[in-house]
Amino acid sequence: MTTDTDPTGRDTALDRDRDNPLCARRDLFQLPDGIIYLDGNSLGALPRSVPERLSRTVTEEWGRDLIGSWNSAGWIDLPGRVGAKIAPLIGVADRDVWVSDSTSVSLFKTMVAACRLRPERTAIVVEKGTFPTDGYIAASVARVLGLELRWCDSNDPLASIDEDVALVSLTHVDFRTGAMFDMGAVTEAAHAAGALILWDLCHSTGAVPVDLTGHRVDFAVGCTYKYLNGGPGSPAFMYAAPAHQGELDQPLSGWMGHARPFDMELGYEPVDGIGRLASGTPPVLALAALDAALDVFEGVDHDSLRAASLSLTDYFIELVDARLGGSLEVITPRSHDRRGSQVSLRHEHAYGIVQALIARGVIGDFRTPDVARFGFAPLYVTHADVYDAVDHLVAVMEQEEYARAEYSTRNAVT
Ligand SMILES: Cc1ncc(COP(=O)(O)O)c(C=O)c1O
Repeated sequence: MTTDTDPTGRDTALDRDRDNPLCARRDLFQLPDGIIYLDGNSLGALPRSVPERLSRTVTEEWGRDLIGSWNSAGWIDLPGRVGAKIAPLIGVADRDVWVSDSTSVSLFKTMVAACRLRPERTAIVVEKGTFPTDGYIAASVARVLGLELRWCDSNDPLASIDEDVALVSLTHVDFRTGAMFDMGAVTEAAHAAGALILWDLCHSTGAVPVDLTGHRVDFAVGCTYKYLNGGPGSPAFMYAAPAHQGELDQPLSGWMGHARPFDMELGYEPVDGIGRLASGTPPVLALAALDAALDVFEGVDHDSLRAASLSLTDYFIELVDARLGGSLEVITPRSHDRRGSQVSLRHEHAYGIVQALIARGVIGDFRTPDVARFGFAPLYVTHADVYDAVDHLVAVMEQEEYARAEYSTRNAVT
């Protein structure tokens, strides 16, 4: 029960952690002592189950059982098996998710496949503030298929959707600001104009549950190294609505998407179902790590996940307002239905602020030109972390520690 209503007291943090049913999940992660990790929206923390699983896959399955492991260890089924673990987090059936390539490659494959379902249409819509790769890939898709690339305003994407549009491709939660689209309303408007919709769920899955089936979403793609904790460069997932799967004509139609890959036939005949989005040999080691990592979500219900994420971001905003009143601008929407699981602060010295915090053991990141980002992974970040992080932030601002860092694009990752 929460007793202390003063957000500036640390007791409030401890009370809120006691009220959070997911708090115990933190023990499933290997987090270094003395670090407050608020960068799970870039690279998720390491689940304890992963090293053991990777070691088994390498030494026993690969080292001892060699090529037989494609069957005996089920390597060949990993893209669909891992997809089935992600499916509940995005509100779709287990058999409809495939995990194999990078997000960028997955975007290319699904965007082309989607546009080919609307051959009479001439445009593809993406938002101006989208993550760069989404825009670059959409531009390439437009060139390959001879379509118009139409940039929409993220404040009003519907204004750019008309009967010429084949596909609307949007990032559900904005990587820079943490602002979230109304998935239901935008999907409905795209459909009303006869267009298909693709959602990039990189900044949603694992922190912001979504209901793709309920919203009748056509396609979705998302990375697995952020809130899904799959490790650096872990492969992305792709979803295609069952109604589209029979018609999918994806552009990287390699042998792994063939109905009978080991018949080595000359002509390409796609397999039924989501597996036709496959191209080449699956990345087994990365999939094994991700498979183990996803077990931290077992038994986690959507409501608790979202409630924990909102409680953490609310608390961070509350403390920044109360203790730093106005010196840093909160650019993340305050309304719950417009917010993902990160909070972004704007300041002219944002780069220096992030570097000073890292020196103090509080890891967030910087996005050009002036944004400090803090991600709140609901399975391992606590309200006590939030309280302590803001304490450090107050010290950084009071002592002007941000003035010591020199910005260089080479340092831009963290
Ligand atoms: C919204 C979004 N899309 C795509 C990507 C990255 O794509 P890839 O996994 O191909 O590097 C990111 C990476 O942060 C992202 O935030």
